[in-house]
Amino acid sequence: MLDTKETSVSSVFPVEHIEESKRPEIDFANLRFGDVFADHMFEIRCRNGEWSAGQIMPYGPIEMMPSANILHYGQGSFEGMKAFRYKDGEVNIFRIDDHYQRFANSCKRMNIPVVPKEVFRDSIVQLVDLDRSWVPDDHYKALYLRPFVIATEEFLGVKPSRSYRFYVITGPVGSYYSEGIKPIRLTTMPDYVRAVKGGVGDAKVPGNYAASLKPTQIAIDEGYSQVLWLDAMERKYVEEVGAMNMFFMLNGKLITSALTGTILPGVTRKTVIELAKKWGMDVEERLISIDELIEGSKNGTLTEAFGSGTAAVISPVGYIHHKGQAIELNQEKMGPVAEKLYNTITGIHHGNVEDPAGWCTVI
Ligand code: COI
Repeated sequence: MLDTKETSVSSVFPVEHIEESKRPEIDFANLRFGDVFADHMFEIRCRNGEWSAGQIMPYGPIEMMPSANILHYGQGSFEGMKAFRYKDGEVNIFRIDDHYQRFANSCKRMNIPVVPKEVFRDSIVQLVDLDRSWVPDDHYKALYLRPFVIATEEFLGVKPSRSYRFYVITGPVGSYYSEGIKPIRLTTMPDYVRAVKGGVGDAKVPGNYAASLKPTQIAIDEGYSQVLWLDAMERKYVEEVGAMNMFFMLNGKLITSALTGTILPGVTRKTVIELAKKWGMDVEERLISIDELIEGSKNGTLTEAFGSGTAAVISPVGYIHHKGQAIELNQEKMGPVAEKLYNTITGIHHGNVEDPAGWCTVI
């Protein structure tokens, strides 16, 4: 018997149905990440701190004034979540409450009124239920959920907006990386930084991703998939990869960068730590220097590296470049710890492995 959460909702939002579903046009066998969207979306507006009635409507363009704050100063925040299909056809939303908590923290950091928890939860549950035929029936695929809030006041002065809109859009996705679960290659980019203490590196906000695009393009042009960010002060400690937190198997211990304020507190990161501890592994959250990893790769004590994220799930890393030096990992194959985590987490997602702690909301 799976240990899951009950799914009763306290609000039921009115629905404007799409005239004709786009689903039959979608090639579910060849899904990539993020370029297909399901039929409906949710919208709720907030003015002077008061939330209006929300509604579900057909997925489509949204209108706002060209002077809206989000377009100029980026006052907004978002989440990345997933819903999965169980073998018996049920649908599971993974760790919805943890995502809400992170979303609320991001909103607070951006001075955005926090979307009430029941609005977040009930809108997502109702929307996923309505578009449940869009949840892929495949172990390697999911319905990606993107809740986001934007500041919409028409005003060019730099000040917090008085009006906001919260949306939820969804879409079926395959692997985040074109490599699938084959190990990816990373490079550090010591001339650029992602975040500084006191900034917004631990919040899920648009600017963090926008600022990463140029260095990521340089990395891609040089043959890597992503940038492995180093800390901004000493350019020495490994932080994260924009779409993932990082884990390393070093001296038989599972290590990951401590949440120093510049790293996104990943929900999958938390899942990995909780599972590894449950399995009796030694887990350390601490500063990890790039030199320590280079040394570990030379003397054979660094045996695996992988990233964790909602979009990326568990993505093995086969090679890391840093200033002309190479960190080669497990002959560029997925290692045993990454594989066990991948199988367990995707097993929980799809209901083949027991939910250890009420992480699944089955609808
Ligand atoms: C996620 O993992 O859901 C994210 O939001 C990362 C994003 C870069 C796709």
